[in-house]
Amino acid sequence: MSGTPSDIKLIDENGIRIDGRKADEMRPLKIEAGVLKRADGSAYLEWGKNKVIAAVYGPRECHPRHMQNPAKAIVQCKYNMMSFSVSDRKRPGPDRRSIEISKIISEALENVVFTENFPRTSIDVYIEVLQANAGTRVAGLTAASVALADAGIPMKDLVPAVAVGKAEGQIVLDLNKEEDNFGSADLPIAMIPRTGEVLLMQMDGHMTMEEVEIALGYAKKACQEIYEVQKDALRRRYAAQAGAVDEDDSSDEEA
Ligand code: CDP
Repeated sequence: MSGTPSDIKLIDENGIRIDGRKADEMRPLKIEAGVLKRADGSAYLEWGKNKVIAAVYGPRECHPRHMQNPAKAIVQCKYNMMSFSVSDRKRPGPDRRSIEISKIISEALENVVFTENFPRTSIDVYIEVLQANAGTRVAGLTAASVALADAGIPMKDLVPAVAVGKAEGQIVLDLNKEEDNFGSADLPIAMIPRTGEVLLMQMDGHMTMEEVEIALGYAKKACQEIYEVQKDALRRRYAAQAGAVDEDDSSDEEA
C-alpha cells in the first residue's frame, strides 16, 4: 500500500470509483455450490474479477497424527494463488502471505464448525485462487464456508466476509486491485449477520475511530448481502439434488 501516483485518480469529483461504483457499493458476486464431484463439499465464486474455488474434505483421519485433538476436530485450510492468477507470475508454492491467510481462515472457520462433534479428525479446506483482483482472502473465506455447508458439516452459521478500505481519504467498500495497491487502508472483516459476531478482522494502514465506525457499518450491510448470496447458492444446490433424486425415483418406478 503506497501513496497514489498523481496520474491515478481512484475516486472522481462525483464520488465515483474507477470501476464505476459508489463508495458503499460491492462488486457483483456469484456463488455456485457443489461444483466438484470428488470433494465432500465445494464452491466456486466470482466476485468482480476474482475467481476462487474451495473444496472441503472430511471430517477424516487427521494426519500427521500428532496434530490430532482428542476433544475436537481441527480445521486445516490451505489457501493458494495460482501462478497465473496475478499480473506478474506468482512463484508456485507456499509463501509467507499464503501461510498467513491459511491460518486466519482456519481460525475463522474453526469458530463456526461444531468441531467437538468430530474428535481426532481433520476438516481440510482447500482454497485455490484462479484469478485475483484484491479481496481474495475474504472471497476465499466466503467460498470456503459454503463448501463446508455443502459437505454437510454441522456449523453455527455461514461466514460472509468483505474488505473495506480507504482511498483518497474516503472509506470504500470491497476494494479493487487499484484501491488496494494505491489506497491507504485495508480492513478485511468476516461477520455473522444474525449475531454480529466478528470472526476475522485485520487492518493494514490507518483509519480514525470515526472511519472505522463507517467501515464497520459498510461491512455489516455487505455481509448481510453476501450471506443472502451464500444461502441462495446452497438452496440452488439442494434443489438440484432433490430434482435428481426425484428423477431417479421416477425412473425406478418406470423400470
Ligand atoms: O487478496 P487480498 O486483498 O485478500 O490480499 P492482499 O495481500 O492484500 O493482496 C491484494 C491483491 O494483490 C491480491 O488480491 C492480488 O490481486 C494482488 N497480489 C499480486 O498481484 N501478487 C501477489 N503475489 C500477491 C497479491
